[in-house]
Amino acid sequence: MKLWGGRFTKETNQLVHNFNESLSFDQKFYRQDIRGSIAHVKMLAKQGILSEQDRDDIIKGLEGILQDLDEGRLTISVDSGYEDIHSFVEGTLTERIGEAGKRLHTGRSRNDQVALDMKLYTRDEIDEIDGLVKELLCELLKVMEENTETFMPGFTHLQKAQPITLAHHVGAYFEMFTRDRLRLRDIRRRMNYCPLGSGALAGTTYPLDRAYTAELLDFDGPTLNSMDSVADRDYLIELLAALSTISMHLSRFCEEIIIWNTNEYRFVELDDSYSTGSSIMPQKKNPDIAELIRGKSGRVYGALVSMLTTMKGLPLAYNKDMQEDKELTFDAIDTVKGCLALFTGMVSSMSFRKDVMEASAKNGFTNATDAADYLVNKGVPFRDAHGIVGQLVLKCIEKGIALDDLPLDEYKEISPVFEEDVYEAISMKTCVEKRMTVGAPGPEAMKRVIEIYKRQLEEE
Ligand code: ARG
Repeated sequence: MKLWGGRFTKETNQLVHNFNESLSFDQKFYRQDIRGSIAHVKMLAKQGILSEQDRDDIIKGLEGILQDLDEGRLTISVDSGYEDIHSFVEGTLTERIGEAGKRLHTGRSRNDQVALDMKLYTRDEIDEIDGLVKELLCELLKVMEENTETFMPGFTHLQKAQPITLAHHVGAYFEMFTRDRLRLRDIRRRMNYCPLGSGALAGTTYPLDRAYTAELLDFDGPTLNSMDSVADRDYLIELLAALSTISMHLSRFCEEIIIWNTNEYRFVELDDSYSTGSSIMPQKKNPDIAELIRGKSGRVYGALVSMLTTMKGLPLAYNKDMQEDKELTFDAIDTVKGCLALFTGMVSSMSFRKDVMEASAKNGFTNATDAADYLVNKGVPFRDAHGIVGQLVLKCIEKGIALDDLPLDEYKEISPVFEEDVYEAISMKTCVEKRMTVGAPGPEAMKRVIEIYKRQLEEE
């Protein structure tokens, strides 16, 4: 069934139909399509454009279709011949309730209808993704609370740099994912205006109450330009950018977990339930899930670039090119939702080898800066202190020991300023504890930040 057969004398070529149809994918938002139609007919009746009887029949019919689809009594088949979900719902309604069904589309175009459906769908998904990021944040907060005194090396250039704690390292990701949530909310707020009533492009001649439908559908108000309403896909681009950023953050974290899980690092051990084996090498336990999440970021970035490219040359207002927004956006949303759920599960089941982390921080001279600061405190200029500690490090490398294990007389050989208290000054505990400015890894500073994070999550 077509919504537009009147001015045509020939049937559509089958290949054209197949190429043009969107039912195979836009059926994903049948719920939103029906919700939008119900609001539309309520408004039509309120404005006296539709009788109350027709309104009631249509709403009953639409609710029946929704229920039947939800419960599997009605299925959406591409072979039905319907072009898209809008035609499917309208056609099925008319089959079921007759004449009244044909009045549903009064004062509406598929252009404002699809703009509405996509917004409703996206809005629901934003809320779901936000919830998934929140779950991840709760998991990260748990790891942080338990590890404010788990020492580990902090890296720059993937070379051991200065000692930090696991709580501090994980806290960096807490910050990233918190910003991701803010981005999602920001997009939601900006997109939350209702395009319904914009018609094909130039509004309609019916006395629609657009504010009323906007309110019924939980929007902050109607959009203010009907051309833009049917042609705007900015919010999808913004969403795809936000999803790309989430994917990038997940990918960076996965990369670290993959490194930490190697035989060489052994900082973490992935749970068996989140690892996979090799068909040939019996000893293998591979971090496939972390790798897949890292890999899937490419797909999400792809959607963003595709969408930007699709939109770049389009004249106002609606163009069919925009139908391409759906598969891209759906795929990116589903991919990110899957990645978030799997990542949270992987992190919550993973174990941290605190002893290995601490030993690694010790063996990597991460306290060398603190040894230099020790000298500075005793009056040595920093540049000289830097040189002295450099020589000490060289000595330790030759001996294959840590700064903590070098005897005092050997310290004194290089600088007589060193005293017994150097060991205390460069101990991992002191090095970290002394870093107590806001945002630093010192356990006290970290605990204060954790309290702020906790409150943030609770206060929502
Ligand atoms: N499937 C179409 C889309 O996704 C629906 C809008 C069709 N409008 C039109 N003028 N052909 O964009």
